[in-house]
Amino acid sequence: MGGAILRGVKTVLITGCSSGYGLETARHFHSQGWNVVATMRTPREDVLPRSDRLRVLALDVTNPESITAAVEVSGPIDVLVNNAGIGVVGAFEATPMATTRELFETNTFGVIAMTQAVVPQFRERRSGVVVNVTSSVTLTAMPLAAVYTASKMAIEGFTASLALELEFFNVRVKLVEPGYSPATRFTSNGAERMAGLIPEAYEPFAKPIFASFAQPAAVTFASDVAEAVYRATNDTSGQLRFPAGADAVALAMAHSK
Ligand SMILES: NC(=O)c1ccc[n+]([C@@H]2O[C@H](COP(=O)([O-])OP(=O)(O)OC[C@H]3O[C@@H](n4cnc5c(N)ncnc54)[C@H](OP(=O)(O)O)[C@@H]3O)[C@@H](O)[C@H]2O)c1
Repeated sequence: MGGAILRGVKTVLITGCSSGYGLETARHFHSQGWNVVATMRTPREDVLPRSDRLRVLALDVTNPESITAAVEVSGPIDVLVNNAGIGVVGAFEATPMATTRELFETNTFGVIAMTQAVVPQFRERRSGVVVNVTSSVTLTAMPLAAVYTASKMAIEGFTASLALELEFFNVRVKLVEPGYSPATRFTSNGAERMAGLIPEAYEPFAKPIFASFAQPAAVTFASDVAEAVYRATNDTSGQLRFPAGADAVALAMAHSK
């Protein structure tokens, strides 16, 4: 199992670099000497260092034209990191189908569409890595996260199957499973989407869960995720899953027992 190690100065394209895990991953690859194409829905140059090895490009993973344009202007890339994602926490019965579709458009179909846009060049060159960022919700069942979990579980299955298929072409496909970070913009970016998703009947159930969210035993730092993505990129052992952050690593260890 496993392909050749990537040699020379390589190029990584990362989605969702305006904040959080994606931003830190862009900084990390840049600090390791890589060419970085940091993509964002709304490009901002000021969040990343100025460098001739760093380009900021517009990319909305739910928009096919945006995907085609970004991949075209990026030139040959060696690694794709599918990091962009959105969340929702709430009672399933109160979650509108429109919200479910919105989550799948970004977390699931966005990842699949991005991957399909780069696979031809990887296959032709017999080289390349796709790293899909899911979540520790795939490591254990968590309440009030049914739709979000579904959108990420789909990518776990997609990635595991695709890894077997693309191994034939020396292309590696990996999963990074981050734990919970209160420090990224994930919760505030989802605040509007989550408003009103705990109906009265669910309040006594949800209250202690939200209280425990507020006092987590361990959390994930953006640097944990950046380092795990980097490790996954360079891994040639055939390892598929890379939990990231103390909470995710603890869940993965409990899971494997
Ligand atoms: N934070 C956590 O607790 C946690 C835990 C486990 C897994 N994760 C996963 O980690 C990844 C990064 O999350 P984060 O915590 O760093 O959250 P974040 O700070 O909200 O960053 C998410 C990024 O995704 C971008 N994005 C959203 N929709 C997009 C779209 N349609 N096209 C392109 N980019 C889009 C956002 O861009 P805008 O600025 O344009 O909105 C932002 O740059 C996500 O896949 C998330 O599911 C997060």
